[in-house]
Amino acid sequence: MSKSSSNPLQAPAKGRICIRPYRDSDSEPIRALFVDAFGTGKGSILRAALKGQLADKLSMCLYTIGSISLCSQAIHLSTRYSSHKDQDNYNVLIYLGQAMLLAALATLLNRAYKVYLAVMKFIQLGLDGDMLDIGEHYCWRSLQFDNSDSSKENERRKNGYWVAELIQEDGSSIIVGGTGIDVTTTRNEPSSAELRRMVVSPLCRRRGVGAQLIEVALNHARKHNIPSVYINTSVHQHSALSLYEKYGWVRLKDFWYLGSMHVTTLKLDLKNSGT
Ligand SMILES: CC(C)(COP(=O)(O)OP(=O)(O)OC[C@H]1O[C@@H](n2cnc3c(N)ncnc32)[C@H](O)[C@@H]1OP(=O)(O)O)[C@@H](O)C(=O)NCCC(=O)NCCS
Repeated sequence: MSKSSSNPLQAPAKGRICIRPYRDSDSEPIRALFVDAFGTGKGSILRAALKGQLADKLSMCLYTIGSISLCSQAIHLSTRYSSHKDQDNYNVLIYLGQAMLLAALATLLNRAYKVYLAVMKFIQLGLDGDMLDIGEHYCWRSLQFDNSDSSKENERRKNGYWVAELIQEDGSSIIVGGTGIDVTTTRNEPSSAELRRMVVSPLCRRRGVGAQLIEVALNHARKHNIPSVYINTSVHQHSALSLYEKYGWVRLKDFWYLGSMHVTTLKLDLKNSGT
């Protein structure tokens, strides 16, 4: 019988990957992976969003303003004025430059802080929502003995969650990734679903684990005649976007999550795709 280690962030890179349905004992490592991959971990959504924001057009304008202001301070320090009047006039410009520098810095910090808050809120909503009891939300544990024919609840039977388990040579195993199919979030198209919470431990990335998770999730969607699968992700999350586009997802529309996270919705039409 394999022994399961609980820290997926210290997963060794060697071993055999097995994709299997979620079990309740996977809850802790999956939640830890989720917090790491979306929060402050290596290659996380938060880090990518902050980096992306620091390179966007508004930030470029702020750097330009900051640089002009710094240059004017330097000129001021190195200039000998011929009269006090000249110096007074120049002082006004210097104060203006300093105010602009401070405003640019404050705007940059404020934008970064708002992104941080948006991601933290997103993580908290996840931990208190579908990730609170993954077995209940995705594996409809309570529905198994419930024969009531509420169509909304019955739809939830199409949900699913899978984990990637790294099985090491000594037989011990560790959870290194996971993803879920959720039919409850696509209210405009009730028969469709969303692929959610895709995550792979930083030590096991670029080994095809994400791709294997997607294949299992898509097979499940096809089996349940789900016509299309949506995904929401940050526009700055290039690794995830590249993975999804490889499987045929196309970008539909962009929006701002909590006014500060630039997010894109992707759609995969399973009826017309060869994936
Ligand atoms: C996105 C993520 C799940 C990919 O997992 P993975 O196991 O590393 O992906 P795979 O090894 O299966 O890669 C499959 C393809 O995805 C793309 N890809 C994955 N990582 C990439 C990277 N860092 N840069 C560019 N493309 C990348 C490539 O097209 C790759 O195919 P290739 O290896 O033949 O070039 C993983 O990086 C992750 O957990 N990131 C943090 C959380 C996250 O962004 N989740 C998505 C939220 S919606």
